Amino acid sequence: MDIPQFQRLILDWGRQNRREMPWRDTRDPYRILVSEVMLQQTQVSRVLPKYEEFLHEYPNLNALANASQARLLRVWQGLGYWNRALRLRDAARMILNEFGGVFPQDPATLRALPGIGPYTAGAVACFAFGSAEPFLDTNIRRVYLFFFLPGEEDVPDGRVMDIARRAVWLDDPREWGYALFDYGAIELRDRTINRRSRHHSRQSAFEGSFRSYRTQALRHVLAQEGTSLSRAELEGFLAGRLSAEDSSYLPKDVLDALINDGLLKSSPDDRVYV
Ligand code: ADE
Repeated sequence: MDIPQFQRLILDWGRQNRREMPWRDTRDPYRILVSEVMLQQTQVSRVLPKYEEFLHEYPNLNALANASQARLLRVWQGLGYWNRALRLRDAARMILNEFGGVFPQDPATLRALPGIGPYTAGAVACFAFGSAEPFLDTNIRRVYLFFFLPGEEDVPDGRVMDIARRAVWLDDPREWGYALFDYGAIELRDRTINRRSRHHSRQSAFEGSFRSYRTQALRHVLAQEGTSLSRAELEGFLAGRLSAEDSSYLPKDVLDALINDGLLKSSPDDRVYV
């Protein structure tokens, strides 16, 4: 299939099937950044209610930059991969403090922001500012592998990007991006396609994982409503959860990881809090 045929197919399909999503109705880069960070590792159905709640609580960069950690993490509950919330707040602070509150527009500058990799930088540049530079997420990568690299194994993203760069529909890169996402998500049901990518990584199961215990520990601290816990109390709580599931992870390692990431803090008298 040549590029003009491919563009026609994707765009025609997109015009009929494009999904409505609240972050597709805005050009506000802040709102788009929030949605893309949430969508990095969380499925659309889970993001939808959280997106509204988050923006109600933090309607702009200033509100987010000034968020208290406890409140921020309470709002983030349910999205997982908690570090993203802190990086997002760091990004808001950096835009205010180092860019004078002016949102960076090009992918290269966006990538300098905390928590923003090539995908998120490309997506924000495209959906907020109309940039025509291509970007790959798991759905878009699937589309290119299917149409242009059939039967090839261990395909590096560089090769996919070479095709993506030639394929961008310059008349409306936003529309193009939405159509590609949706085509890959809805039409290409065969989820084994992406295994042919060198860079594809599947999310590991949550149940019984190290991150599931991180989440349980954090939720327990957030549920204390103002009273702090001692480290021993929190380790005891976790020990119960770990042994109930026959896990060989150690409570100490779970807490150290959370403290190391800045999600929990510990005081010299060994209390832990968010
Ligand atoms: N629309 C805009 N960004 C999206 C994303 N990351 N996933 C699905 N749909 C989107």
